[in-house]
Amino acid sequence: MEGFTSFFNMILVALLVATVSSTKLNVPRLRLSYADLLSTNRSSIFSGHHGQLSLTAVFLDEYRDRLFLGGKDILYSLLLGPASSESKEIYWPPLPGNREDCIQTGKEPQTECANFVRLLQPFNRTHLLACGTGAFQPMCAFINVGHRGEHVFTMDPTNVENGRGKVPHDPSLPFASTFNGMSCVGVYL
Ligand SMILES: *[C@@H]1O[C@H](CO)[C@@H](O)[C@H](O)[C@H]1NC(C)=O
Ligand SMILES: *[C@@H]1O[C@H](CO)[C@@H](O)[C@H](O)[C@H]1NC(C)=O
Repeated sequence: MEGFTSFFNMILVALLVATVSSTKLNVPRLRLSYADLLSTNRSSIFSGHHGQLSLTAVFLDEYRDRLFLGGKDILYSLLLGPASSESKEIYWPPLPGNREDCIQTGKEPQTECANFVRLLQPFNRTHLLACGTGAFQPMCAFINVGHRGEHVFTMDPTNVENGRGKVPHDPSLPFASTFNGMSCVGVYL
């Protein structure tokens, strides 16, 4: 089941890239089989560095040719160049003590008491804003992604802000967000 889930997520990422670029050109959505996708030689398979990839946020950065992914306690940066398989990751768990507090209130350690990244948005020329549920203590941080052409991917773990009102506490709540000048507004659906 685990293997199937990661496989599905890989396809999803690939389809997402295809969908986003076709939407932009206002043409019908492109449909590719898995075999078609591989035979183009323009796709590479990414299944996370720990063999399981469960995505909770995706941001395709066409300016930098990068795909940013957020999951459970983790962020990934993938380069989208031809057949590039270079990737970087940032481990981003809840703040110290928050996982334990969450478990103490009777919530599920695996599906609730972790930092599920729910938001990944461009902030300025060098940084993205990332927010996660932080084990029911939402938090946000800036990620340095560098300028176009650099593969920088770092976060200062001491510079974390309260994410209340930006992302939900609950990883399973449907959610959308918008970036309004300097502030980010979360919309709970
Ligand atoms: C993809 O790569 C394989 C092996 O390198 C090659 O045989 C094939 O012709 C390539 N396909 C395309 C569409 O470029
Ligand atoms: C982008 O924002 C971050 C976080 O506030 C800041 O550290 C960085 O210097 C800014 N970069 C630019 C190019 O304005």
